[in-house]
Amino acid sequence: MSEGVRERATAFAPATVGNVGIGFDILGHTVEALGDRVTVVRTPERGVVRIREITGTVTDLPLEAERNTAGQALLSLARAQRIQFGMDVSIEKGIPLGSGLGGSAASAVAAVVAGNALLETPLPKLQLLKFAMQGEAVASGSVHVDNIAPSLYGGLVLTVGIDHPRTKRIPVPNGVRCVVVHPHMYLSTREARRILKKQIDLADVVWQCANLAGFITACYSDDLDMMRDAFEDVLIEPQRQALIPGFKSVKQAAMSNGALGCSISGAGPTVFAWAEAPYADGIRAAMVAAFQEHGLESDHWVSAIEGEGARLVDGSG
Ligand code: HSE
Repeated sequence: MSEGVRERATAFAPATVGNVGIGFDILGHTVEALGDRVTVVRTPERGVVRIREITGTVTDLPLEAERNTAGQALLSLARAQRIQFGMDVSIEKGIPLGSGLGGSAASAVAAVVAGNALLETPLPKLQLLKFAMQGEAVASGSVHVDNIAPSLYGGLVLTVGIDHPRTKRIPVPNGVRCVVVHPHMYLSTREARRILKKQIDLADVVWQCANLAGFITACYSDDLDMMRDAFEDVLIEPQRQALIPGFKSVKQAAMSNGALGCSISGAGPTVFAWAEAPYADGIRAAMVAAFQEHGLESDHWVSAIEGEGARLVDGSG
């Protein structure tokens, strides 16, 4: 083994709001308040990935590497790079299961960032993105990037393409925050995807395209009026809202307290709202109260949107 090659590495990857309402499967942003941490230790068995331990907010996850998001992401890396060693993996979950906050993506991203640090020649992030996508697919049954890309790169990230993804970090207007309210219930991403219609009206597609284009333009031009008008998911939210008790009143609470927009975070049940900073605490309180009226307690955060992406956290990265 050459000098300087690491024996172990630990990485943290942040939670994320997937879709951001108008960008189904292609747009997402970081939520710095919580995330997953993965430690990878080099072992002598070539190509063998073993999940040794899962601790934290979720422990009931598959230990078999092929069925675990972190394990599958590392297997993809190991196979593609034909690595000459094996990896023991410890996962510390900080993101609740089935919350819509990108928990499976964060574990996959933290795993590949830690695994990458053990390579003699670490790979660029775009490669890691592809391996993490394979991990995410284990949990949700499909390959999508809206949680993976921001968890890896940080901030608000748009991804175009699946086989050859291109990512772009989008600027966020100054002083805009994200209010994140996670009601205490579990929602399966697979199920929330299964219920979606495969055919949609052309008029709705046109409307959604206009909204996504308007939203991105508003980000680049600091135009909060345009953002408010464009911040409306007409494709997915109408189909999924029934899965979240009280969603309509939670959204109404956010909007009537000054939110720029409010929708479902990823596949839900977390609901998020973007707002100018002075309104954020009032919006959060109103959303929490609206969930309570529907019998749901929640965890809640006000987060910056342009957070850092995944990084090594064991002091030597
Ligand atoms: N874009 C995905 C969805 C995020 O909404 O189904 C969940 O992983």
